[in-house]
Amino acid sequence: MSIHTPRIEKKITLSTISAMKGVEPITMVTAYDALFARLFDGEVEMILVGDSLNMSFLGKEDTLSATMDQMIYHTQAVGNGAKSACIVFDMPFGSYTTADIALENAVRVYHETNAQAVKIEGGKEKADIVRVLSENGVAVVAHIGLMPQHVRSEGGYKVRGKDEDDIKALLEDALDLQAAGAALILVEGVKAEAAKAVTEAVQIPTIGIGAGNSTDGQVLVWSDMFGFFEAFKPKFVKRYCDGAKEVREGLEQYISEVKSRAFPDEEHTY
Ligand code: KIV
Repeated sequence: MSIHTPRIEKKITLSTISAMKGVEPITMVTAYDALFARLFDGEVEMILVGDSLNMSFLGKEDTLSATMDQMIYHTQAVGNGAKSACIVFDMPFGSYTTADIALENAVRVYHETNAQAVKIEGGKEKADIVRVLSENGVAVVAHIGLMPQHVRSEGGYKVRGKDEDDIKALLEDALDLQAAGAALILVEGVKAEAAKAVTEAVQIPTIGIGAGNSTDGQVLVWSDMFGFFEAFKPKFVKRYCDGAKEVREGLEQYISEVKSRAFPDEEHTY
């Protein structure tokens, strides 16, 4: 059995990530458990414990019913598997409605997990919350553009940055959030030229998802990129392997071998 050598051996901190802007694209994937976190650790710089787990793991329609307890549980699991990647905790819907609530929940994240930053969705209207968190020593990834936690209030997932006014609004969001102390900006579901304008306007790194090729880094949801989540595939998702097909093939073979008593054979018997 060959021993895999990880690409990254040192611990990745937020300072490492900041220093990568304009130097080398940052890679980030989601993970929700120790098994996959261990697979991704040492390869990608960052792991996001996204509230997307509510859909891909829990089978819910959207992310809105994820809770702090669930997110903490999954982040602890990811922390058990990932030792070098910089872990980001996705604050679930309702956990940062005021600065006080956000701070209380973010302190809980730092107390109970080894996440290095929390992510919150929102533009300049969330700048005060970002300021309070960062002034209290909590690193924040500010998520702008298409915000999945707004799916019910906006009646769907809407691509942003389609006209000059919206690009201007996104730029204002990014600049205000940076001024409030955000460590990174995650830009989701925006036209490539809007994400490029945001990336060029800020000094902090931007991580894109469905935001073209000019952001400082990219993130994908693991179950999308490896072909396990089959309910739908947004245009921006590239499938790097066909996980569901591979599992089905393996499962079929297992069933047929059990039925025919080909398994367990000598090799797998004490
Ligand atoms: O929850 C999540 O996985 C996310 C990504 C889509 C960025 O927020």
